[in-house]
Amino acid sequence: MATMLGLGTLARVAGEIRRDVSAAHQRDPAARGVSSLEVLATWPGVQALLAHRVAHGLCGLGVPLVPRTIAMASRALTGIEIHPAAGIGDGLFIDHGSGVVIGETARVGDDVTLYQGVTLGGTGFATGKRHPTVQDNVTIGSGAKVLGPVTVGHGAKVGANSVVLHDVPPNTTVVGNPGHAVRVEGRRPEGPDADWVHLPDPVADAMRDLAGRIAALERALEKTTGHRTPPSGEVRPLRNVRGRNPAGG
Ligand SMILES: CC(C)(COP(=O)(O)OP(=O)(O)OC[C@H]1O[C@@H](n2cnc3c(N)ncnc32)[C@H](O)[C@@H]1OP(=O)(O)O)[C@@H](O)C(=O)NCCC(=O)NCCS
Repeated sequence: MATMLGLGTLARVAGEIRRDVSAAHQRDPAARGVSSLEVLATWPGVQALLAHRVAHGLCGLGVPLVPRTIAMASRALTGIEIHPAAGIGDGLFIDHGSGVVIGETARVGDDVTLYQGVTLGGTGFATGKRHPTVQDNVTIGSGAKVLGPVTVGHGAKVGANSVVLHDVPPNTTVVGNPGHAVRVEGRRPEGPDADWVHLPDPVADAMRDLAGRIAALERALEKTTGHRTPPSGEVRPLRNVRGRNPAGG
């Protein structure tokens, strides 16, 4: 029985290693033509994942100290910090590695790609599920921060340096801070609800309206009295609500 268990575990681990290495081959142009052994020996993303799979297994068995020690050593070697309890699916590829943080309650699906500097983190001192869930086939660009118990839907893309604080629907591309959708199912979002960032600014609208009415009164007064009111400063909204539409709609 013990032998069967050992063989089964070995076969599973071998399968995971094969899939991790093949994820690097498929998604890293720099890995083309590089042998699997070399990828295994020199790709920090692959090594961090192997270390995590061991740490996660031991963590699940309730082994104290060792999982965190493995995670710490792996971070020192690769610059990638994955909490031993984080759930990682098959075929994750972490390109370059440095500065990647994956929190304790994060869940990462299959065939996900993370670039350097990605954080799947919490937003404060909340307990319980406080890190993101990243579904299958998601790509998260370098420097992007996905914070809180949000879900990044399958097939979504998060642009480099984005800050994502809300759920991302499947097959959607979000960019910027705060992250907002620029593509949904490959198409620019359309319509008044498409712009998640530049919401209507009723205060600025009211001030612009008042400024226009005061200017009209001043012109009428100038005509009747001949007295010219010195021009006052331009009334401008606090933010550019009519600027370039980042949703492209
Ligand atoms: C977000 C991303 C995946 C989008 O790629 P894409 O699907 O080809 O989409 P596009 O390039 O057509 O970009 C869509 C829109 O988002 C904008 N955009 C793309 N990436 C952006 C980013 N990181 N920040 C802000 N805006 C971005 C584009 O200018 C474009 O705007 P438009 O609709 O006004 O034309 C890609 O730009 C990205 O950031 N990838 C991460 C790559 C990375 O981290 N590489 C590190 C290698 S070491």
